[in-house]
Amino acid sequence: MIGKDALRAAKPYTPTFLALYDPWVIRLSNRSAWRCPAEIMLAAYNKHLGHRHLEVGPGSGWYLVNAQRPAESLITLMDLNPAPLSHTRKRLHSKGCQVRTVTGNVLDPVPDSAGTGFDSIGLNFVMHCVPGSFAQKGVAFTHLARVLADDGTLFGATILNQRPRTLFGRALSATYTRAGAFNNADDNCTGLESTLRAAFAYVELTDVGDVTMFTTRYPIR
Ligand SMILES: C[S@@+](CC[C@H](N)C(=O)[O-])C[C@H]1O[C@@H](n2cnc3c(N)ncnc32)[C@H](O)[C@@H]1O
Repeated sequence: MIGKDALRAAKPYTPTFLALYDPWVIRLSNRSAWRCPAEIMLAAYNKHLGHRHLEVGPGSGWYLVNAQRPAESLITLMDLNPAPLSHTRKRLHSKGCQVRTVTGNVLDPVPDSAGTGFDSIGLNFVMHCVPGSFAQKGVAFTHLARVLADDGTLFGATILNQRPRTLFGRALSATYTRAGAFNNADDNCTGLESTLRAAFAYVELTDVGDVTMFTTRYPIR
C-alpha cells in the first residue's frame, strides 16, 4: 500500500504546476534558491543517458527534452503521479522519441511492466520529496539497482537537510516542507552515501550549491 506521505509528496505536480515548472523550478529556483543552475544537471544527462533509459519522477521532462539523447533511444518514465507522465510523454513524442510510461512508487519494487536491464536511470530531485530518512527511503536505490544493467549508470541529484544558503532557498524549503512536498529533514550525506554504497559498488558524490549530485555504477545483485 502506498503511504499517505508519499502520495502527498507527489500530489503538487498537477498539469497547472507542470506548465509553470520550467520557469519556476528549472530556471529560477535551481539557480537562485539552490545555487545549482539546471545546465549543470543537464550536463549529467548528456554524459550518462543510454539507449534504454528509465527516468524516475520526470516532473516537466525538461532535462530529457533538452538533453543530447542517443539516436533511437527508448525512454521509460515512472512516476507515482500520472500527470508528469503524460506531460513528459507529450513533450518527448513531439521530439520523435519512443516513450513508455509506468505508474509506480520508487519505494516499491519497479513494476515488471517497466522492464529491466536499463543502460541508465535518472533520479533527479526525487529523493528529497520522498518521505522517511535514508534508512527507510534508501530502499529505492536497491529497487532501482535491480533493473539497471550490469554496466549501466544511475545518476541524479537531491537536496539534503543542510540549511540552504540563500534566503530564497530557506523560504522555499520551509514552504515545501509545510506542504509535504519536501521530506528531507532527516537527509544527511552519510545516510545518502551509505545507502547508495549498499546498492552500488561505485558511488561518486559532488556538491554544487545546496544540491548533492550522485553517479553510481556496478549494481550489487
Ligand atoms: C521535484 S519533481 C522533479 C522533477 C524532475 N526530475 C526535475 O529534476 O526537475 C519530483 C518528481 O518526482 C515524482 N515523485 C514524487 N514522489 C515519488 C515517488 N514516491 N515515486 C515516484 N515518483 C515520485 C513527482 O511526481 C515529480 O514528478
